[in-house]
Amino acid sequence: MRIAVCPGSFDPVTKGHLDIIQRGAKIFDKVIVAVLINRNKSPLFTIEERVELLREVTSHLPNVEVDSFQGLLIDYLKEKKAQAIIKGLRAVSDFEYEMQMASINRLLEEDIETFFMMTNNQYSFLSSSIVKEVAKYEADVSSLVPPLVEKALKKKYAEINLTT
Ligand code: PNS
Repeated sequence: MRIAVCPGSFDPVTKGHLDIIQRGAKIFDKVIVAVLINRNKSPLFTIEERVELLREVTSHLPNVEVDSFQGLLIDYLKEKKAQAIIKGLRAVSDFEYEMQMASINRLLEEDIETFFMMTNNQYSFLSSSIVKEVAKYEADVSSLVPPLVEKALKKKYAEINLTT
């Protein structure tokens, strides 16, 4: 069985991520979407919220699982008996960082391959940070994220505005 891991922060999942996950799920027998538990970042959504949103927006994909992980990505792949990492490339600006990560991961474990997919043109500018920036000012993000995520963003910023 060919298993791929699609890692990221997913704070929150966007239509760009979903496009990559869906396309990956057509190629691999199983895709595990793995949310990084990163104590250095201060995320908008908790790990549980991010995992739950991902589970809901991928519920139509029978061979996609959602999980969280900490530590090295390569160790997580070994634990899950996965052979590949899948990533989306949006623009040339992503290339250097992604090449660095793919090279390090290859150095750490040469049997694991990183597969890059060119992001659909319509999402080439899209990132979770951009989505948060737009949603913070109550602008329309319906073309950028699934409806459930749009609702979650509205709720989150309403809560934040109440407490500040
Ligand atoms: O969505 P992001 O924040 O760009 O995702 C980055 C991610 C999770 C893919 C990357 O930070 C990662 O793999 N972190 C785990 C630690 C690790 O294995 N780092 C690479 C080797 S040093």
